[in-house]
Amino acid sequence: MKFNTKTIHGGQEHDPAYGSVMPPIYQTSTYVQSTPGAHKGYAYSRSANPTRTALENSFASIENGNYGLAFGSGLAAIDAVLKLLKSGDEVLSTNDLYGGTYRLFTKIYEDFGITFNFIGMENAERIEDYITEKTKLIWVETPTNPMMTIIDILATAKIAKKHKVLLAVDNTFATPYLQRPLDLGADIVMHSATKYLGGHSDLVMGGLIVKDKDLADRLYFIQNASGAVCGPQDAFLALRGIKTLHIRMQRHCENGKAVAEYLVNHPKIEEVYWPGLEHHPNHDIAKSQMNDFGGMVSFTTKGNNYEEAIKIIENLKVFTLAESLGGVESLAGHPASMTHGSIPKEEREKIGIVDSLIRLSVGIEDEEDLIADLKQAIGS
Ligand SMILES: Cc1ncc(COP(=O)(O)O)c(C=O)c1O
Repeated sequence: MKFNTKTIHGGQEHDPAYGSVMPPIYQTSTYVQSTPGAHKGYAYSRSANPTRTALENSFASIENGNYGLAFGSGLAAIDAVLKLLKSGDEVLSTNDLYGGTYRLFTKIYEDFGITFNFIGMENAERIEDYITEKTKLIWVETPTNPMMTIIDILATAKIAKKHKVLLAVDNTFATPYLQRPLDLGADIVMHSATKYLGGHSDLVMGGLIVKDKDLADRLYFIQNASGAVCGPQDAFLALRGIKTLHIRMQRHCENGKAVAEYLVNHPKIEEVYWPGLEHHPNHDIAKSQMNDFGGMVSFTTKGNNYEEAIKIIENLKVFTLAESLGGVESLAGHPASMTHGSIPKEEREKIGIVDSLIRLSVGIEDEEDLIADLKQAIGS
């Protein structure tokens, strides 16, 4: 199957009970057994639930993996990956990443004796310099949140393989519509399915996808043992969202391009971060590993003027000021005080998350309305 067919049919079966085309929401915690241990594959819904299984199969299908796992949030999925590690292990991570991931790494797992090294990965060769015999995991976001830095997955995967280190890629921003990290050699793909996969800002959900059976078994064990699973209702909503992922993403990309190009030419705007712009430092890598450039666009105001940035955010009418991204509706955010507030100011500013940075999740409304909204909010 090709991608657009996989989003709809990948890993799906019509329900055997009554032939329903969509999987029923199996709103049950437990399942009948005729004698102890004799059941139809489901014993308790923390361990497995048929609606969640349908979603996990869909996750695996769209990312070209063999195994999918669904969690109660993106962070719960990341948490499960970190539980593969032991005290004394080291993790190499991008220095520009979602603030909640940074918080989980530094405020929870550092206390368990895991060391995190946050480095710029836009030049993949540099990664090798930081690998020690204790390094067990490389954690990559690409495009990064919120600076839209692009990391070369293929080159990073080669380094990870050479040193027998796991490579995990947070594919939340790109989605498998734009890039499939497992095909490029990554071991684990992670999603905040809260975002583009769900696509309608109506659920919180996480996902992991892998190819390797042993790795999948270890993660399934952690999923069941730690129990951070999603409920069947949310699994159903995520499945429904994925069925339109390809057409939503197509429009997100078109509108993202229009917004980025409008902002680049605006006299009141200093920098625009969108990997589709030719002057983006890793535009060529983006072109080679992505099918298009997505709908996430960040920008700063001329002279890094904080008050001006806040005024723009307050003036926006079609773009809603809110946390999160990836829904059909356009959202605007202020990373320094919102999504990345948990990263210390000095750390933040080193990687470009200055106080005037605005991050847009460009939705699938009419392009003209989005541009008109930016025009009235920024002024001329
Ligand atoms: C890139 C990225 N990864 C992970 C997460 C965490 O996901 P969740 O909010 O579903 O726990 C987010 C949330 O904003 C994100 O943007």
